[in-house]
Amino acid sequence: MTASTPTALAEIDIRHCDSLQELEQCVQLQKEVWGFDDIDLVPSRVFLVASKIGGQVIGAFRGYELVGYSLSIPGNRNGHVYLHSHMLAVKPGYRNLGLGQKLKLAQRDDAIEKGIELIEWTFDPLEIKNAYLNIVKLGAIARRYNINQYGSFSSPLQGGLPTDRLVAEWWLRSKRVESILAGRAAPDFRIEEKVQVPGEIYAWKQSPGDRTKAADVQQRNRDKFLQAFSQGLVILNYQRDERGSGAFLLGHWDETWSYAKH
Ligand SMILES: CC(C)(COP(=O)(O)OP(=O)(O)OC[C@H]1O[C@@H](n2cnc3c(N)ncnc32)[C@H](O)[C@@H]1OP(=O)(O)O)[C@@H](O)C(=O)NCCC(=O)NCCS
Repeated sequence: MTASTPTALAEIDIRHCDSLQELEQCVQLQKEVWGFDDIDLVPSRVFLVASKIGGQVIGAFRGYELVGYSLSIPGNRNGHVYLHSHMLAVKPGYRNLGLGQKLKLAQRDDAIEKGIELIEWTFDPLEIKNAYLNIVKLGAIARRYNINQYGSFSSPLQGGLPTDRLVAEWWLRSKRVESILAGRAAPDFRIEEKVQVPGEIYAWKQSPGDRTKAADVQQRNRDKFLQAFSQGLVILNYQRDERGSGAFLLGHWDETWSYAKH
């Protein structure tokens, strides 16, 4: 049986990581997934602290082997407790089976049990797969953009570009999220702006000769997002096409979930 058969998914158990050895496995998987230099790795001590102060370290286990995890830490904005999800990782070979979504749903269940209504995380708007997972499969929205959030980044996934990030807001009990997770259509809206990402972006980021093309897309999209967000537009949907390209669809959100920003 290969890793990516449906049978393998049925054998995977999603649960809180509770031993130091499991937290060490998270660090090893982090290294494998992002390829960070050691200095950039989040150490097991931080995973431990997060698990003890109201954050979440949730693992996907096949037997004793960790094949995915999510890490979140508690935050507080204007008196509201929320969670910031800092990492979501699935081992290559176990991807595109729904495990990433399952780990996020486990975060949501645990958060709701604790009375939390918001989980946020940041993601690279050039990552077409992640945008699709966050917006279409989970129902997150985005209306904030952080330019070069982390400064330079040793992960090859970043392709040497500035670490621009969108902030995903996952309003756990919003109409939008509840509809999407129940398999119903997301509430309709009028499309006011479209921001496109070509499917070649992955190859451009990895090839030094083409990197300027990726940088141009990043710069163009950065300007569009900043402009759209300043007009109150919100990312509410994402389209993929058969060529592997993606497009963010923006409009006005008719729900009023918000904590004052930052
Ligand atoms: C992001 C990540 C956690 C997703 O995990 P996963 O288990 O593969 O996610 P899922 O299977 O739940 O969902 C992936 C979806 O993206 C789709 N997808 C796969 N490749 C895609 C692509 N190039 N473009 C668009 N969508 C794509 C899959 O078909 C699937 O959707 P479907 O269920 O409708 O078919 C995993 O790819 C990963 O570890 N990536 C590296 C680290 C990372 O980027 N982490 C997130 C940012 S912190």
